[in-house]
Amino acid sequence: MVAAPGENMRIDADRLWDSLMDMAKIGPGIAGGNNRQTLTDADAEGRRLFQSWCEAAGLTMGVDKMGTMFMTRPGTDPEALPVYVGSHLDTQPTGGKYDGVLGVLAALEVVRSMNDLGVKTKHPIVVTNWANEEGARFAPAMLASGVFAGIHTLEHAYSRKDPDGKSYGEELKRIGWLGDEDVGQRKMHAYFEYHIEQGPILEAENRQIGVVTHCQGLYWLEFTLTGREAHTGSTPMAMRVNAGLAMSRIMEMVQAVAMENQPGAVGGVGQVFFSPNSRNVLPGKVVFTVDIRTPDKAKLERMREKIQGEASKVCEQLGVGCDVEQVGHFDPVTFDPVLVGRVREAAEKLGLSHMDIISGAGHDACWAAKVAPATMIMCPCVGGLSHNEAEEISKEWAAAGADVLLHAVMETAQIVE
Ligand code: GLV
Ligand code: MN
Ligand code: MN
Repeated sequence: MVAAPGENMRIDADRLWDSLMDMAKIGPGIAGGNNRQTLTDADAEGRRLFQSWCEAAGLTMGVDKMGTMFMTRPGTDPEALPVYVGSHLDTQPTGGKYDGVLGVLAALEVVRSMNDLGVKTKHPIVVTNWANEEGARFAPAMLASGVFAGIHTLEHAYSRKDPDGKSYGEELKRIGWLGDEDVGQRKMHAYFEYHIEQGPILEAENRQIGVVTHCQGLYWLEFTLTGREAHTGSTPMAMRVNAGLAMSRIMEMVQAVAMENQPGAVGGVGQVFFSPNSRNVLPGKVVFTVDIRTPDKAKLERMREKIQGEASKVCEQLGVGCDVEQVGHFDPVTFDPVLVGRVREAAEKLGLSHMDIISGAGHDACWAAKVAPATMIMCPCVGGLSHNEAEEISKEWAAAGADVLLHAVMETAQIVE
């Protein structure tokens, strides 16, 4: 039997790996990973390298007013909407080499492989680097895809500030990546995102591919507690208005609420700012962040209500002021069943072991799913470790997922003979 067009195709595993390693040289971390936070000079340099690779592969660049890069490989039908494939090149301050980067460079590798073999598709393919996925420097995460999907306004995004008080809008201009396209004007035929799992399931189950059916929902809450600055030595215990103590009780309570909601819920505090942060001053102000997630929408709402209610009680008892800002939120996401099926079929066809999985992390695919059929593919990562410079995957794992991406994208973009 003659193979169907493209059926025997594989991506070039060495080329994908080399590109990952070359990108990792930009914005190196301090422990083998990366610090290429969004809208830094390192981000600008990483973007330029990616642009040069894309242009060498014949792609044409568009950049929108959030700084998202869209690199287009034309299709044969001028009327056909593009298939978008991407993720993000920005990292955590102590990030790994693969979170996000794998998805962008695998999308580029898909196109490079199609070029090598002269494969043409009806639909264009747009390799995408979403700006500010991580939300580490400018909260919330998935900011540019959120504006694209109409969740945030451009003004809101531009006004987001980093811990030094610099705004997204200013920094985007400063690094030279403010584009001219209106955000969200593009229409997608479909959206695919390939990502490392960032959790331990695939490795433990010895599967090469995660077929991502859902993503859990989340709330990011930012608490500002107001106490009274006072001397830690001379202020009697009864006279203290201790915002730090309130923070620690709330932190314990968040843990308890997550534990009460097992299985399938997580919650924790990732960031705390004490003010004035001096060892012999009781903090007058504490700002800290709470991140809660679960795939169950009703449970997510109950957890948020309980945490806010209990935090008010803690603060009242201690005489501490309590303000809560909802900095990020999305409901649990169900990915497009047709595209999910296509990913599963591609894994089957390629003889790769796979299982259905729910994404524990947020991804640009979650907002893309609001405006187009979308789905994700995952590969394992060693020990489930991510948001850590020690994040690791193997070349074989990276390549297996990229092969699935190639086949799912070719099926969706429709090969033209
Ligand atoms: C984004 O990386 C997230 O926090 O899930
Ligand atoms: Mn990511
Ligand atoms: Mn991340």
